[in-house]
Amino acid sequence: MDWKYYEPHFAADSSPKLPAEFMKEGAWSGHRRFAYDLVRFAQPRVLVELGTLYGTSFFSFCQAVKDGSLPTRCFAVDTWEGDPHTGSYSHYSDVIYEAVHSFTTEQFSGIGATLRGTFHQALPRFAQGSIDLLHIDGYHTYEAVLHDLSTWLPKMADNSIILFHDIAVRSGDFGVYKLWEQLRDYPRLQFNHSNGLGVLFPKGCPASFQPLLQQQDRLAAYYEKFRS
Ligand SMILES: C[S@@+](CC[C@H](N)C(=O)[O-])C[C@H]1O[C@@H](n2cnc3c(N)ncnc32)[C@H](O)[C@@H]1O
Repeated sequence: MDWKYYEPHFAADSSPKLPAEFMKEGAWSGHRRFAYDLVRFAQPRVLVELGTLYGTSFFSFCQAVKDGSLPTRCFAVDTWEGDPHTGSYSHYSDVIYEAVHSFTTEQFSGIGATLRGTFHQALPRFAQGSIDLLHIDGYHTYEAVLHDLSTWLPKMADNSIILFHDIAVRSGDFGVYKLWEQLRDYPRLQFNHSNGLGVLFPKGCPASFQPLLQQQDRLAAYYEKFRS
């Protein structure tokens, strides 16, 4: 199957429960089209997201699963309390969690599930080698993202994919870019817009992705048009 550029409609954009500005103009919004096309192409069996907040990224994954009638199960892991980079939103934790949880249930029943707790607490829910697509988007210091990668890597299947958000942010103590530099020898793709998104193949790269890796510049130029 060839890579396809879809024209999706994201149901999350018109939900009264979710803030439209987060969906359409948030830090992650510029990667939704790629995320959607990636899920339709890769057809992962198990997709896990570490860091969901309002679900800008999560609902783009779920939308692709629904539209493609894929058998993928998507899991959103978050305390829904914030971290030093998002700021603590513990006063609104229940409201935000309920909005994300109820939208998941209403729109993506049988597809999406929310796991409210720390990334560490969610680890035992997944067998070794069982995750096909992992999105790491929690706390963004070098130490935190390295910890997330190290603890979740054993859960990754052969030929699986890890997405890293914020690989282009060099301000403050953001350190995803440092880890991304260290991962340069793995097969990968990268987008520099919308804070940057890294696409890593940590345990082998399927032949179906080779043409895509060879067209990195063309791919980046296309998806950059959707930058937020
Ligand atoms: C940058 S936001 C996620 C943004 C989201 N992916 C989007 O598309 O907008 C980071 C989230 O990670 C969560 N988080 C950070 N570290 C965590 C941890 N160790 N365990 C659980 N949640 C965590 C925070 O509560 C916050 O909601």
